[in-house]
Amino acid sequence: MCYHTRRNEGRGLNLRAFRDTLALYATGVTVVLSRYGLATHGMTVNSFTSVSLRPPLVLFCADNRADTLKTVQQAGYYTVSILGEEHAWISQRFAVAGPQEDLLAEVRLGQGPASGVPYLSDALAFLECRVTDVIPAGDHHIVVGEVEHLGRLNPHRPLIYFDHRYRRLTPEP
Ligand SMILES: Cc1cc2nc3c(=O)[nH]c(=O)nc-3n(C[C@H](O)[C@H](O)[C@H](O)COP(=O)(O)O)c2cc1C
Repeated sequence: MCYHTRRNEGRGLNLRAFRDTLALYATGVTVVLSRYGLATHGMTVNSFTSVSLRPPLVLFCADNRADTLKTVQQAGYYTVSILGEEHAWISQRFAVAGPQEDLLAEVRLGQGPASGVPYLSDALAFLECRVTDVIPAGDHHIVVGEVEHLGRLNPHRPLIYFDHRYRRLTPEP
């Protein structure tokens, strides 16, 4: 479908076109977790990316309404767990707002050495990040973190998100 002449209420870009076009940028899928006091909270994130090598910075973008954003801001730390191809169900579960006690009891958790913030032990890898900047950007905030610890955990193939659907990497012949 060609969207380029369609407009959103005469006020700029067509939002459907915006979403559908960006959906053609294939990404991995992560779960961002944070913990403040006794409360652990997490969300599925595919806006994760690296920013800087020296110092080692990464970022993700969080909807202003996300409970995880509040927890991350309070805690000052978060972990990023990179999901494998068999973890679409984990991605789906962490993409639902609301209480997460049951979900957190269903997944295996490790603890970031610096902060104690949990990560998913069954992920491909985890990063433990100290929040350095939280920048408002439209209806999201950009959360920049300095990576203090990381680890490769399991040799799965990655979960891919492309064109609004989960995908797998086709093994090379
Ligand atoms: C594959 C996938 C990727 C997502 N990526 C993001 C993201 O990068 N940023 C974001 O704010 N929400 C993202 N979401 C939606 C959040 O996971 C969802 O809004 C979640 O309910 C927020 O949880 P919370 O309000 O409990 O923190 C994504 C959802 C899916 C399924």
